[in-house]
Amino acid sequence: MRIAVYPGSFDPMTNGHVDLVRRGCHIFDRVLVAVLCNTEKSPLFTVEERVGMVQSVFRRESRVQVKAFSGLLINFLKTEKTNIVLRGLRVVSDFEYEFQMALMNRRLDPDVETVFLTPKEELSYLSSRLVKEVHRLGGDVSGLVPPLVYRSLRKKLPNGLPKS
Ligand code: PNS
Repeated sequence: MRIAVYPGSFDPMTNGHVDLVRRGCHIFDRVLVAVLCNTEKSPLFTVEERVGMVQSVFRRESRVQVKAFSGLLINFLKTEKTNIVLRGLRVVSDFEYEFQMALMNRRLDPDVETVFLTPKEELSYLSSRLVKEVHRLGGDVSGLVPPLVYRSLRKKLPNGLPKS
């Protein structure tokens, strides 16, 4: 059974992340979404909220699992008995950061392989950070995140938009 771990902050999960998980499911038997329990960044959603949202989004997709993790990713991979990391590459500017992480993970554990997939082109500008910023400032992000994430965003950060 080939399990790919897709790690990230997912604060919150966007349609770009959803697209990537589904692409991963075409290649791997399981995609395990690993939600970082951030200690340095102060996320908008708690790790429990983020895990809960991802679980709800994929509740009908049996190949997708969701877990929280903290500490080094390579240790989480060992616990989950896999050596495959899945990450998204949206634009060229992602490359440097992703390349550094992939090589550092390989340095820490030579067996680790990072697989990059690209999301649908129309989602390539999307990021959790931009979604939060636009929403906070009153812009409409309803088509950029799954509907339940949008509802959670509106509860967490009321932004004056009329109720849908
Ligand atoms: O969504 P993000 O914030 O870009 O995800 C970054 C993530 C979670 C993949 C990265 O920060 C990570 O793997 N953190 C765990 C700690 C770790 O292993 N750091 C060394 C990796 S180079």
